[in-house]
Amino acid sequence: MNKQQLIAAFADKFAGQTGTVYASPGRINLIGEHTDYNGGFVFPGAVQQGIMAVIRPNGTDTVRALSLDLNEYGEWSVNDPNGPKETCLRFVYGVARELIERGVDVHGFDTVFAGDVPLGAGMSSSAALESCFAFGLNEQFGGSISKWDMVLAGQATEHKYIGCNCGIMDQFASVFGQAGKLMRLDCRSREFEYFPFDPKGYRLVLVNSCVKHELAGSPYNDRRRSCENVTKAIQALHPDRKIETLRDCTWEDLEAVNATCSAEDIQRATFVLGEKDRVLAVCDALVKGDYEEVGRQMFRTHEGLSKEYEVSCEELDFLNDIAKECGVTGSRIMGGGFGGCTINLVKDELYDAFTKRAVEAFEAKYGHKPIIIDVVIGDGSRRID
Ligand code: GLA
Repeated sequence: MNKQQLIAAFADKFAGQTGTVYASPGRINLIGEHTDYNGGFVFPGAVQQGIMAVIRPNGTDTVRALSLDLNEYGEWSVNDPNGPKETCLRFVYGVARELIERGVDVHGFDTVFAGDVPLGAGMSSSAALESCFAFGLNEQFGGSISKWDMVLAGQATEHKYIGCNCGIMDQFASVFGQAGKLMRLDCRSREFEYFPFDPKGYRLVLVNSCVKHELAGSPYNDRRRSCENVTKAIQALHPDRKIETLRDCTWEDLEAVNATCSAEDIQRATFVLGEKDRVLAVCDALVKGDYEEVGRQMFRTHEGLSKEYEVSCEELDFLNDIAKECGVTGSRIMGGGFGGCTINLVKDELYDAFTKRAVEAFEAKYGHKPIIIDVVIGDGSRRID
């Protein structure tokens, strides 16, 4: 779907009218998985795929919204305390409510939206949708909220209207992304820096398994709860220290609560502490241009996500094994888990052999082809003039 087609669909739906077009991307994440809600570091970048929406205030208090991809249409009042039931419309509803809470004078509007970021691939199609409306509605209704407020409005939409207690990585990457640059974000202080990413001789490629085993909400929230349980147990032993998340905890702290926390919670926290170390190792390696080390850490993250955090699945472990067999530099599951893609750091000369083998071997075993997506780091939320 390009901009012209979206504008045509809007005119078709809303009596020949036209509106302003906004876009917001999905994201990749080089390393730092499930660290955002633990106050740690993440390394995301926006991709070129995303969500596009035409938005036009309609002078009433009614929102009229059409999702072209899912063919879902709904109308609701901006003051409606319940909102629509269809998930894709609830994102729009939730973002509008969150903007109002942040002082933006949102009234009724007409909108048509569509996207090319694959759903359930771990590339944050939902954050793309939230950020697109946070950016677009702020501008259309004369708001002056900051980019961080847009990020937080998107995250609050997930928490309050969708039921997923996500961190801030996805919305951050979608709003703040810049072409050609990854971003290293400290999720505790919210300080971040742009990191030009141009690994000479290597490519980043996603292999989308196109499987989604469980709904993102509950197992994701369970993982988060485990981290909070362990944090609380460590806090109780150290009332004198400022301990807010696992970011503030050491390996010794974890050892000290080994007997009091459940084995499952300890296992989850072990992953998070290990991931904290891996992110720092990757930062060092990137500064030195040592991509072999970046790749080794990616494989370790996969191992941790699979065995300790238990958010992988058979198909993703299979893709990871293929990557190893092909001599790929680094490979791991990307995003929340339970399906979706692996992200792979591949030497140029191995790219063709690896992608061919991944597609063929996966299809032979699982009966459908995975989708190869070359990563191009793109821009964040914007108006398309
Ligand atoms: C999902 C969440 C993010 C983050 C990742 C895992 O994408 O939305 O906040 O926790 O999972 O790193």
